[in-house]
Amino acid sequence: MEREGAVTFNLKELMEERHGDNFALHAQYLNPQLTKVVTTLGFDRFYERGEGCYLFDDEGNRYLDMLSGFGVFALGRSHPVIKDALRQALDADLPGMVQMDCALLPGLLAEQLIARSPKQIERLFFCNSGAEAVEAAIKFARASTGRRRILYHAHAYHGLTMGALAVNGSADFREGFGPLLADTTEIPFGDLEVLVRELKRGDVAAFIVEPIQGKGVYELDAERWRELEDAVHGAGALFICDEVQTGLGRTGAFYAFEHFGLAPDIITISKALSGGYVPVGAMLTSDKILRGTYSSMDRAMVHSTTFKNNPMAMVAGLATLSVFDDEHIVEHAAAMGIVWRVRLEELASRHEFLHVVRGRGQMIGIEFGRPTSRGARRRWRLVEATRTAMFTQTLVVPLFHRYRILTQVAADNINVIKLLPPLIAADAEIDLFISALDELLSEAERSGASLVEFGVTMTKGMLRRSPTSKRAAARS
Ligand SMILES: Cc1ncc(COP(=O)(O)O)c(C=O)c1O
Repeated sequence: MEREGAVTFNLKELMEERHGDNFALHAQYLNPQLTKVVTTLGFDRFYERGEGCYLFDDEGNRYLDMLSGFGVFALGRSHPVIKDALRQALDADLPGMVQMDCALLPGLLAEQLIARSPKQIERLFFCNSGAEAVEAAIKFARASTGRRRILYHAHAYHGLTMGALAVNGSADFREGFGPLLADTTEIPFGDLEVLVRELKRGDVAAFIVEPIQGKGVYELDAERWRELEDAVHGAGALFICDEVQTGLGRTGAFYAFEHFGLAPDIITISKALSGGYVPVGAMLTSDKILRGTYSSMDRAMVHSTTFKNNPMAMVAGLATLSVFDDEHIVEHAAAMGIVWRVRLEELASRHEFLHVVRGRGQMIGIEFGRPTSRGARRRWRLVEATRTAMFTQTLVVPLFHRYRILTQVAADNINVIKLLPPLIAADAEIDLFISALDELLSEAERSGASLVEFGVTMTKGMLRRSPTSKRAAARS
């Protein structure tokens, strides 16, 4: 077919024409409840651009992004090397997904990732997301051991597809979706005794863990981790480290399990490998485990997905790893982890609401709790009576409105702010956050002013008219 020269798609014009319609379109066509949540918190903005650690809205305001797309933007937004790599890939008209083929780029990315992994890791399967990597881990563990049961930790988060949901340690996520995958069992966090009891039944294929738990940023000490891992291996089961969030430098090591000296049989990764642009996930394992699934030529495609190995994702991954080396990203994240800890512990020594600082590298949990002085205690009770963990929300909202810092409560019902800044975040970004939190905590200790501000913001958000898109307005 001849291609005519006329350009029919103009992204810039489209965005200009529909500028400001984003919330109306989401309310109408996507998830109206999420639209309400964002609007009620007063987080509704029209972001036009992202660069490094910052977002910019259509009024020219700059926001410090302490979520980095839940860990996707390890290198910050719009990294020039990743952009250039993707342009090169587009311009090369790469023949992606031929399917009956073995292309070069997936081989190169697998080679690089395996070189950065411990020696028992020899093979890799690419997919499109963290949850898909977890699904692969569950299937490969079952196939290679011939056993059915998968153990997981209380409060674990491994994604929301059906298999991953069956190893999710929070009832709220599971509710309404059952029956889930059979033969999964929850282990209280770090409970060796329960683990050993479950392993004794002889039917456990694997124990899946997050080396540092995302919901609340909890970790175990190295000795307990090794006892758990030894028990799993002693029972002939597999130890799966889900590094979807913690992997690729987030905690100041390439993999978080390195902090605890663990030797997983299966590793899952995703998020940061995308360079912030192209969804990608991977499951890494040993030759023996991989062969449990791909056991013969007849079974060469028993686990697969159409977009695995897609060239844009592979290029994003290769470019990301190259920037990791050139900019010493893992070492930087480790150094910033020390700065976070020193600065936050100093705050904790002065503020009675700030109880515990957790985390490593650029994965930080800040836990708030009941203060000691009378006035502050009364305000705490007042806020927490409305809803558990509401206090943290009364910080997250002014952090955004007053200081233009995007953060989030770490999980429902816990008073923890979790910070996942881009791994490139440095002293300037840490300064911005620390001085904002310092001011807010001083204010909360002195008076109820920030509570009033929070209430006003929420009320305004709730009262805001339900958004209507320009097209819908023109039709009515
Ligand atoms: C540890 C962990 N595993 C799996 C997932 C699921 O990844 P995705 O959202 O890409 O499906 C996440 C997502 O946050 C995660 O943190």
